[in-house]
Amino acid sequence: MFTRTLSIGLWGVEGYPVSIEVDIANGLPAFDIVGLPDASVKEAKERVRSAIRNSGLEFPVQRITINMAPSDRRKAGAAFDLPMALGILAATGQLPMEALTMPFIGGLSLDGAIAPVRGVLPAVVAAARLGFHEICVPEVSAKEGALVEGVRLLEARDLKTLVAQLSGDAPKVYANPGMTSAEPYRGVDFADIMGQRAAKRALEIAAAGGHNVIMIGPPGSGKTMLAKSLPGILPELDFEEALEVTMLHSVVRPAGEIQGLIRTRPFRAPHTSASVNSLIGGGGYARPGEISLAHLGVLFLDELPEFPRSVLESLRQPMEDGVVNITRVNGMVSYPARFMLVAGMNPCPCGNYGSAKKECRCTPMQIRRYLGRISGPLLDRIDIHVDVQPVDYDELTRKGREESSAKVRERVEAARAIQRKRYKAEGIRFNAELGAGSLKRYCTPSAEGESLLRMAHESLGLSPRAYTRILKMARTIADLSGQEEIGAAQVAEAIQYRTLDKKYWG
Ligand SMILES: Nc1ncnc2c1ncn2[C@@H]1O[C@H](COP(=O)(O)OP(=O)(O)OP(=O)(O)O)[C@@H](O)[C@H]1O
Ligand SMILES: [Mg+2]
Repeated sequence: MFTRTLSIGLWGVEGYPVSIEVDIANGLPAFDIVGLPDASVKEAKERVRSAIRNSGLEFPVQRITINMAPSDRRKAGAAFDLPMALGILAATGQLPMEALTMPFIGGLSLDGAIAPVRGVLPAVVAAARLGFHEICVPEVSAKEGALVEGVRLLEARDLKTLVAQLSGDAPKVYANPGMTSAEPYRGVDFADIMGQRAAKRALEIAAAGGHNVIMIGPPGSGKTMLAKSLPGILPELDFEEALEVTMLHSVVRPAGEIQGLIRTRPFRAPHTSASVNSLIGGGGYARPGEISLAHLGVLFLDELPEFPRSVLESLRQPMEDGVVNITRVNGMVSYPARFMLVAGMNPCPCGNYGSAKKECRCTPMQIRRYLGRISGPLLDRIDIHVDVQPVDYDELTRKGREESSAKVRERVEAARAIQRKRYKAEGIRFNAELGAGSLKRYCTPSAEGESLLRMAHESLGLSPRAYTRILKMARTIADLSGQEEIGAAQVAEAIQYRTLDKKYWG
């Protein structure tokens, strides 16, 4: 007796079809799984056996062999429990073979309940691409994938009910689309931050064009507070973006946690003790790291020099490319990682170097060493450098209202809308994503702007990378004022965000 059921395996966030062949033969009772299963898949045996028995169904006392194809990819996770159990039931005549036309994913509990699994959304997306109109997923995970067009999600609650549904003895239940509404940001509002005009302006530009920012200044000047206000001025994710973000989170978050598409732009703030693997991705299952979980949102690295050098340097390649490639034993996994880096730091160990009010107690050697933890190439990739000095007493206690985050977000959204329209054919979304090839086309400054750039290039000793980043920033500044031409004023403002290196790094 032989059957074949279908499932979807995951390679990064790419789903691929897995065919599960079940053969049941007479002989000494045995249960073997072949086709490169890892330890978690091998454990399925115990779950499948108990789940079938505890559902009032019969587990064959025969020789069972399960083969998972393609056999050159290592299969992990519990999602194959369900198709294996259904294959056994069909091979023993307890379920009609014709019922097994759709892919199945789901774990099994010993009592026969269908357990949630990770990666439902990428699996459903793959099923749609492969031309399936139906896929069976755990009921708890169904909301996560139900928005994918063209596929209906059959909700599986427990093995017994599912068998009745597939046999036509009970009505099937399909999932309703789930979409989490973007949560209103409850953190720091721009209105709560007194003064700090320049820093707020810098954050607005960063948000509008997706640029990287570093904030440098003495302790307590408000760097962390400013960074935490950033989510409040970022626009919601649109549908396509939400799909990309949810796919990435789907393979990392606990199974069953995601209840619909994620609409809020990610804001990830890993601690300085984070490892290269947790930041970049990798490890046993080559999971996405913080930089991919921050895709289309913000990666906030507070106290930047406190991160190990190896961690900081590993950011360089993905910052440039917007994707990260992780090598695995049998191939490579790619994850998107188009994040905005926002960093905060003190300029020296005591924190007061460069402050007009407090004296720095560090030796020149200590200062150099501290600043030296941020390598030139990393600093070069950060578009906007802002000096954050503490506001004075009068400013801090001023009665007047500051502009709210909601107000700033309106301008950011308008500027992003301009960019979306402009880059429709390019397949990108915002200015920071512009590749070298398209730079000339969209970011040619006026003659005055051009001559300013030439002067700055010489006096600041800019690298070609810094030059292109200034141009893209100037593009964003022009977009914020709804202006097509990049004039001298926009170029000048953009250049100003690169002059801080001279003050600190000399
Ligand atoms: N401009 C401001 N308006 C209102 N409150 C402020 C402002 N600047 C600082 N504060 C207050 O000071 C606190 C400390 O600021 P924050 O933690 O952001 O400083 P920091 O620059 O990150 O310091 P450190 O270098 O020590 O990390 C804030 O939580 C806030 O209460
Ligand atoms: Mg801080």
